[in-house]
Amino acid sequence: MDNATSLQADLAVRTRDLNLWYGTFQALFDVDLDIKQGIITSLIGPSGCGKSTFLRAINRINERLGYVRTTGTIDVCGHNILDESVELVQVRKQIGMVFQRPNPLPLSIRDNVLCGHRLHTPKGERVSREDHDDIVEEVLKQVLLWDAVKDILKRPAISLSLEQQQKLCIARLLPVKPTLLLMDEPCSALDPAATAAVEELIWELKGKFTIVIVTHNMAQARRASDECIFMLMGKVVEHGPTDQTFVTPQHKETADYIEGRYG
Ligand SMILES: Nc1ncnc2c1ncn2[C@@H]1O[C@H](COP(=O)(O)OP(=O)(O)OP(=O)(O)O)[C@@H](O)[C@H]1O
Ligand SMILES: [Mg+2]
Repeated sequence: MDNATSLQADLAVRTRDLNLWYGTFQALFDVDLDIKQGIITSLIGPSGCGKSTFLRAINRINERLGYVRTTGTIDVCGHNILDESVELVQVRKQIGMVFQRPNPLPLSIRDNVLCGHRLHTPKGERVSREDHDDIVEEVLKQVLLWDAVKDILKRPAISLSLEQQQKLCIARLLPVKPTLLLMDEPCSALDPAATAAVEELIWELKGKFTIVIVTHNMAQARRASDECIFMLMGKVVEHGPTDQTFVTPQHKETADYIEGRYG
């Protein structure tokens, strides 16, 4: 492997000249980002700067809107997902997404955990009940939810607290074995205690997955991420180790933002 190739092998996401328009409105401008594998990267910036748009571009969910146009390249684990030959199902299998508000399906706790896995099980392949039980137990343990729900697995997921629902929404991604987890303000609907619990979980997942997390909470970005990306009006201003971004930001705009002068 030459140097360039081995460097790229360490990357979960690599974008080049990524531009995105909603109709005539340009929301992303020449975004060139290298997001490393196996670490937590936080994405910060004022409201409307394009954080969610960027996450949704990586998962190709913007394209559901007929009026979105994307140019450039988005390599996820080495494949340009904008390439027409890439199958959306395969893209989605590699990438899990968590949203601001927990969005469990109107199903039992158990069925929520298994829904993604069932969707991705090849047609005709039988999975035994015992295997499903094992999957449910394993991932609920992984999200620190097993002890609380092991006796109520048949109850509707929406009967859980918001914190538990958000943990469940993370749990249901795991049986599909994604490499990349995208989290768009996963703690914004939670109270401080629940935020702390979900953050603890995110730390537990560190190293097992690559995580990109959008947050407006500077303390969370600082505590919970290894690298930090600061965006402003659709452009990347700064990307580096989180400590550096917070202690010695390279750009005045970054310093102004993290000191709370705007946004
Ligand atoms: N579906 C859409 N159609 C048209 N414009 C949109 C759409 N979604 C977002 N935009 C616009 O694109 C820009 C970036 O929005 P985006 O939601 O990505 O920002 P954000 O950084 O996630 O903001 P916030 O912190 O408020 O969540 C904004 O100007 C927004 O109004
Ligand atoms: Mg957003």
